[in-house]
Amino acid sequence: MKKVRVAIIGIGAIAESTHLHYLMENELTEVVGLVDMDVNRAEAVAKKNGISHWFQSVEGLLESMVIDAVFICTPNSTHIPIAKKAAEKGVHVFIEKPIGIQIEEVEEYIELARANKVKTMVGMTHRFRREASILKSYIDKGKLGDLYYVKAKLFRGRGTPIGWFTNKSLSGGGALMDIGVHVLDLAWWLMGCPEPRAISGKAIGALGNYQTKYTSSWASKNNQLNANHVFDVDDFSSGWIRFRNGAVLNIEVAWAMHGEQDEGISIELFGDQGGAKLNPLTIYGEENGIVTKNEPHFAKNDVFQDELNHFIDCLVEQKEPLIDAEQGLSVLKMLLALYESSEEEREVIL
Ligand SMILES: NC(=O)c1ccc[n+]([C@@H]2O[C@H](COP(=O)([O-])OP(=O)(O)OC[C@H]3O[C@@H](n4cnc5c(N)ncnc54)[C@H](O)[C@@H]3O)[C@@H](O)[C@H]2O)c1
Repeated sequence: MKKVRVAIIGIGAIAESTHLHYLMENELTEVVGLVDMDVNRAEAVAKKNGISHWFQSVEGLLESMVIDAVFICTPNSTHIPIAKKAAEKGVHVFIEKPIGIQIEEVEEYIELARANKVKTMVGMTHRFRREASILKSYIDKGKLGDLYYVKAKLFRGRGTPIGWFTNKSLSGGGALMDIGVHVLDLAWWLMGCPEPRAISGKAIGALGNYQTKYTSSWASKNNQLNANHVFDVDDFSSGWIRFRNGAVLNIEVAWAMHGEQDEGISIELFGDQGGAKLNPLTIYGEENGIVTKNEPHFAKNDVFQDELNHFIDCLVEQKEPLIDAEQGLSVLKMLLALYESSEEEREVIL
């Protein structure tokens, strides 16, 4: 069987540790090229992994190689410009989260991808967590009834990433854009992707470039992009989203704050027939007039591996990815509306 020929654009922290590793392990895939604006890095990683082609730009890749798909793992502001170049050539696109940083650029991309029959998947890794898919199946079978309130949260104590993430022109936003996108997407998907009606929120740069000792943070592999250490984004955001079906979602995220560090995304869901929480997965209900609390047992999975394999399977089997560009856009619209609400000190009606 012909393998899916893929290239990775932006072979930085996440791509080297996960995308490259799992795509090379996938028997249906051949990693044929690496691209990085730091071409020395692209070359070094390519040689280390036996990949024969490397480039400094996506144009260089697309002009000289025939490929089926790209995995875009560059800073957020470059996702859509790169995706458009791939889609123009009919190349399928996996985009790391968030899909982009502006609504118009994403809408233009969606049109282009549709016209060129290009499949798109956004890297919303947490949907592939085993406990998330188990909970989703409970919800889809109606075990919780109608959901009316969801609380979703991820607080880091001192976990502000180092590099372009804090520079709004490159990232599009801070904690909300970086980790809030995961928290919101997971909660929204579990709720059945309801249509948002209004958003109110506050985004705050509270601790900023802290100098705390003995802490470790995620760091970009490109320390030139934000050489001046610009910090013009939020490190705490909280919002309240009303959906057209009557449900509401409360989201809270922090890269850094004075308080307990969360070990992962925590979500609590309240329905009229039952409730649930993630981390650990617990299902609450009532049976025979008795309150119940169940903790399903399951083996954990490797979420990145399952996510990347899913996209390859979609290409091989002509299936639609679990998170398409339209869903990526819907989540981006909610994130940007929360920032707008914060700036304008009012509820934003969608
Ligand atoms: N799904 C997840 O859980 C997850 C986790 C971490 C990061 N990410 C996402 O992955 C993306 C990359 O994050 P990272 O932490 O690896 O950052 P990084 O800075 O370490 O890597 C980005 C790489 O892209 C290169 N680059 C920048 N602009 C480029 C361009 N125009 N063309 C080619 N190469 C370019 C940089 O030199 C760098 O090597 C971000 O969008 C981030 O949000 C997702």
